[in-house]
Amino acid sequence: MTPPSSPRVAAEPAEPKAGGVAMPIWLIMLLCAVGYWGMVYFDAHGGRFQAQVYAPYAQLSEIDELQPASDTEAFVNRGKAVYETVCALCHDLTGSGKPAQAPPLAGSEWVTDPVERIIRIALHGLSGPITVLGEEWNLAMPAMGAALPEEDLAAVLTYIRQAWVNKSPAVSVEEIRAVKAAHAGRTQPWTADELKKIQ
Ligand code: HEC
Repeated sequence: MTPPSSPRVAAEPAEPKAGGVAMPIWLIMLLCAVGYWGMVYFDAHGGRFQAQVYAPYAQLSEIDELQPASDTEAFVNRGKAVYETVCALCHDLTGSGKPAQAPPLAGSEWVTDPVERIIRIALHGLSGPITVLGEEWNLAMPAMGAALPEEDLAAVLTYIRQAWVNKSPAVSVEEIRAVKAAHAGRTQPWTADELKKIQ
């Protein structure tokens, strides 16, 4: 008698095996290089995890340095911006004037006290002969400041009085209003002789 044959168990196929394909060395090096570049990039641009910092600044301290230190500084910066758009065309960014176009403002005796002179020049213009830093000019300046908001005018005159070699006190909106009120109907530009009478 033959023993009852055990049911045949089908031999299972062997588990599949992954082949041992070597990772190419250049790929490892490339990954290392990319990783390294990423770290350097993050280091330079991540702003040390401070959300207020964004490109192109690397650190909060750089931004702090750019903040106006005080209201006065912000006022002068505003004046600089007005100067660059309204006055610099003729008087040059450096305040040194341009030959046959406009006399210098840097070091000019017309920019310093009495402050009413520069306010009048800006509000109503200036024409005819004028001596600036020992040099004769005879041109005409239009009333460049007449259309400016009073705050902007005060800011730009303050900037001019404190930029370059100039070191005169700030100009206030009140001072501008006072000159405006005193010469409300004036349409003619000033002459140097008239301005010299202001003490
Ligand atoms: C279109 C050209 C022009 C522009 C813009 C201009 N100026 Fe003038 N400015 C002149 C000329 C020209 C004179 C000299 C006028 C003369 O010969 O009588 C002058 C003279 C002056 C003077 C007296 C002389 C001196 O050099 O110190 C002051 C102060 C002055 N300008 C301020 C300003 C201010 C402030 C602005 C901007 C708000 C301005 N100017 C914009 C042409 C210009």
